Amino acid sequence: MQSKYCFIAVVVTALCLRVEATRAGSEVCFPPHFTFGVATAAYQIEGAWNVSGKGESIWDRYTHTHPERIFDHKTGDVAADSYHKVKEDVRLLVELGVHHYRFSISWPRILPTGLSNDINEDGIRYYSELVDHLLANNIVPMVTLYHWDLPQSLQDLGGWTNPIIAEYFHDYAKVVFEHLSDRVKVWFTFNEPLSFCQEGYGGTDAPAGNSSGFEDYLCGHNVLRAHANVYRMFERDYRHTGGAVGIVLDFAWMEPASTAAEDQKAAEIARQFQFGWFAHPIFSPEGDYPPVMKQRINEISKRQNFPRSRLPVFTQEEVVSLRGSSDFLGLNHYTTRLVAAGSGKIYPQPSFYTDMGVVITQNPDWPRTNSTWLRVVPWGFRRALNYIRVSYNNPPVLVTENGVSLPRMTHDVRRVQYAAGYLRALHEAMKDGCDVRGYTHWSLINNFEWTRGYSERFGLYDVEYASASRTRSPRLSARYYAKLTRTRCLPNTWE
Ligand SMILES: *[C@@H]1O[C@H](CO)[C@@H](O)[C@H](O)[C@H]1NC(C)=O
Ligand SMILES: *[C@@H]1O[C@H](CO)[C@@H](O)[C@H](O)[C@H]1NC(C)=O
Ligand SMILES: *[C@@H]1O[C@H](CO)[C@@H](O)[C@H](O)[C@H]1NC(C)=O
Repeated sequence: MQSKYCFIAVVVTALCLRVEATRAGSEVCFPPHFTFGVATAAYQIEGAWNVSGKGESIWDRYTHTHPERIFDHKTGDVAADSYHKVKEDVRLLVELGVHHYRFSISWPRILPTGLSNDINEDGIRYYSELVDHLLANNIVPMVTLYHWDLPQSLQDLGGWTNPIIAEYFHDYAKVVFEHLSDRVKVWFTFNEPLSFCQEGYGGTDAPAGNSSGFEDYLCGHNVLRAHANVYRMFERDYRHTGGAVGIVLDFAWMEPASTAAEDQKAAEIARQFQFGWFAHPIFSPEGDYPPVMKQRINEISKRQNFPRSRLPVFTQEEVVSLRGSSDFLGLNHYTTRLVAAGSGKIYPQPSFYTDMGVVITQNPDWPRTNSTWLRVVPWGFRRALNYIRVSYNNPPVLVTENGVSLPRMTHDVRRVQYAAGYLRALHEAMKDGCDVRGYTHWSLINNFEWTRGYSERFGLYDVEYASASRTRSPRLSARYYAKLTRTRCLPNTWE
């Protein structure tokens, strides 16, 4: 009897030790200064679209005039009503234990006409109070100056396709720096220029330029010029505040569809068109647009009978001003795509996709989410980060967005798995030598997901849109994230 119990005890102990060892082996911890946060954007959560002096934005105009283009025909008029819920939202951030909060400022809330001769003091007060509440709770505010909500009055002048906007953006940024740079130390000029230039000017999202291969390039060009203006102005007039300025770029990893040389080459062309377009002028040692973009668009423009390339040309002064105009790279990463060589056919109609000339798909075996474009591919994150390290001399990277849309549920196990999978991949990338300084989950709360309305939910917290008070409630993923921020290690359990 004795020896039998003894034997069982030995086996149980061995098993326990083994479980313990596996746990320790798989322990994923981030360095002490690594910062965890969550992100939101003004139009997607604030509401209060026409109160306290705010001017109309292109998304106000678009949702009001084209409800049929929004999946659920809704608007951001009220959204999560965050304009009236500063204290409540900061309380959620405290509950999550985040070290930073990334939010955006609505340009037409600060400057109702878009121009700096008329400042809306109520708008300044709102953001100033938000910043004060964050600081009072030891949360670092990270501010995006532009997250898609252009003042409509500036769109009436052509918006980002009109070169004058680089000056107006500079003036707007100066007003914001003047009021907030004493307390805000981390700034981003733009969020995802690829998305808002392509979908807004190349496509039919606000402001619906619907002119691919033409207006998208004009937009990108003026956004880059505006970015450089603001970076150099900050460097000259506000560097003494101790702050830093970056830009947020979105980068879905572009994986070759096969080992064939044509597909490998096509994937690299896709990376240059979809990331290098904005990254190369700022982060590469040579500066300017990627050579492959200049060469392809020039050649195809000529064959389409244009007298010059549809891709605008930077002056030498602009190339120099843009080069190195970012203290760090903000990276939004969600998914991975497969790239194969295209047919090489050139249509008479300009098109970004013809210029790029590749075929982009996703592997149907990759797990689906509630967004058609978003499949779960954690390993692509590690590759994207290593590509940035190798291509641009290992710049400091702050992951400014990463997250997943799922049907409405409290027990969102798949969001926990998504975050854990992508954070493991990020951790591997850091072991590879990538200089990643922090991670920001998109999003704090459910929000207005542009043309998908409220149908695609990215929140750690649910928002009850049917209630006037827009009640927030934590999901399983919020509790998981709160454990992560406190230990800086991936929790082993979900509850
Ligand atoms: C603001 O917009 C709402 C609709 O969202 C409308 O009912 C209200 O009258 C508007 N208020 C003002 C001051 O224009
Ligand atoms: C976009 O332009 C194409 C022609 O290039 C046209 O067929 C289509 O209707 C336009 N879409 C919108 C929403 O304006
Ligand atoms: C996402 O969820 C909505 C319901 O909110 C549904 O109507 C839509 O079809 C879903 N989309 C995808 C791609 O699963």
